[in-house]
Amino acid sequence: MTKLRLGVNIDHVATIRNARGSAYPDPLRAALLAEQAGADGITAHLREDRRHIRDADIEALMNGLTGPLNFEMAATEEMQSIALKYQPHAVCIVPEKREERTTEGGLDVAGDIARLADYIAPLREAGSRVSMFIGHDAAQIQACAEIGAAVVELHTGQYCDLHAEGRFDARDAELAALQKGAAYAASLGMEVHAGHGLTFETVGPIAAIKEVAELNIGHFLIAESVFLGLENAIAQMRHLMDAARA
Ligand code: PXP
Repeated sequence: MTKLRLGVNIDHVATIRNARGSAYPDPLRAALLAEQAGADGITAHLREDRRHIRDADIEALMNGLTGPLNFEMAATEEMQSIALKYQPHAVCIVPEKREERTTEGGLDVAGDIARLADYIAPLREAGSRVSMFIGHDAAQIQACAEIGAAVVELHTGQYCDLHAEGRFDARDAELAALQKGAAYAASLGMEVHAGHGLTFETVGPIAAIKEVAELNIGHFLIAESVFLGLENAIAQMRHLMDAARA
């Protein structure tokens, strides 16, 4: 089986910085440390309201990272022009609602297929690998293939929530649906990523899905780094991913 990549999302380093309006902690510094600790890429979400990552962070990451940046963004005109300016390695299109605490559900690609096909075309032409953040629904997966997305990222938030609530039968059903979705997406020729809400406890079964090529993990790693340090938290996650894969 191919080695599973780990993308470390550093949004919440910026959340801590912004809580005090200070210049620290610096997301680029965290990203460089994450790269040294074994991250295969860095993910950052420039939200419309700039609640964590800001425009200057994207500039700093583009100039300072040694590895690839996965730029998460909503499908708006403003974000498209920022992505075209920087042409990051990957662009992950996510749904965004102002009132939500985090990205709550997957994107409705099937319901917005013509617009999203037009929307991602220039990003693809600019050389960014375009990924769509969706649920495991077959219609959504098929729509991603139809618009020419290179990657689907499957939303693992529901699986993690059900685990945290102790609803293990429902969690296992959600896991089975993610496994089926990953196999279907791969059969249509797309690369499969997964992420949202993953922790040391929940990462194993997702890492074991053979079609999954990359996991994107943020909030838990930044939270755990309070106790373990960022490098140790990443090393432990990497270890659990590799163990599940083997
Ligand atoms: N993947 C996508 C597309 C996301 O939007 C997020 C959250 O920004 C993540 C992965 C990481 O989720 P978490 O921070 O819960 O690990």
